[in-house]
Amino acid sequence: MSLTHSQALEFGPESGPFNLDDEAAYSRWRAHKLRHYPHSVNQQRVPIAALDRLDSAQRGNLAEACGRANFAIYQTDPATPPGMEQLRAFGKQLGLVHFDRHLWAPPDGIAALRRETGAARSSYIPYTDRAMQWHTDGYYNTTDSAVRSVIMHCVTPAAEGGGNWLLDPEMVYMAMRDVNPAFVEALMHPGVMTIPENTLEPGAHRPAVTGPVFSLNPADGTLHMRYTARTRSIRWKDDAVTRDAVAFLAELLTPPVSSAFYVCLQAGEGIVCNNVLHNRAAFHDAADAEQQRLLWRARYHDRIAVSSSPDVTA
Ligand SMILES: [Fe+2]
Repeated sequence: MSLTHSQALEFGPESGPFNLDDEAAYSRWRAHKLRHYPHSVNQQRVPIAALDRLDSAQRGNLAEACGRANFAIYQTDPATPPGMEQLRAFGKQLGLVHFDRHLWAPPDGIAALRRETGAARSSYIPYTDRAMQWHTDGYYNTTDSAVRSVIMHCVTPAAEGGGNWLLDPEMVYMAMRDVNPAFVEALMHPGVMTIPENTLEPGAHRPAVTGPVFSLNPADGTLHMRYTARTRSIRWKDDAVTRDAVAFLAELLTPPVSSAFYVCLQAGEGIVCNNVLHNRAAFHDAADAEQQRLLWRARYHDRIAVSSSPDVTA
């Protein structure tokens, strides 16, 4: 099993850890990844005094956390909650400036996720209190407009539930490649997964989107994963190796999920990540309207680029 020259050009760089023919680079990357992968979510926690004014130590800690597992949990003082402007400035200091303009994103790019009772938004699971299956954000985006990073900031936690499991897609890639590289090859095929069109609303039509699960960013060779564990209406490429790969992936994501971390964000905490796999537990809000779960979410087309030099400003 190997990619032809033209396929290698189509699917990504001709060398490097994510090229199926470059075993040496993959082995080096794999050893490094396993040596540094966190043992506990607490290793990924980074206290931040002011989101819009990171110092070099905070930038360094964020860089290290994202380098280990493609996500960090930042913690701000709940007594001084940031506004959306501070959150935007935080993203900018991490190189995140190109917002994904999805269906419900407001013009300024940051969506407020809460349980909605209105007819339109309550059709979308993020705006309900229901559990969400494993996915990466923007799995209905084309590869050209991939969501490469996400910030989720907790303004108010739920009275009960609403926690997230997080899993670095690079660990999923590794698990699949170690078992059968043909699984990876199948999931890199540009025709492997089709998300059906969205016909929920007359003004919000989205055509069907077909693309790979794993792809490499042509700009820097980094791995991107596009996936949803949702099964309704998802169309997979109809061949045996794809079926086996999808089944293997579903098995990997069946609890207990190896290499995954659980976090239940508290007020002032947030996740900043290179769009890692995540799910969400169902939650219950308190009866008091002031105590209802509220998360701000920003999606970007940029990958996190953290410099520890002190001259990066918002
Ligand atoms: Fe999500």
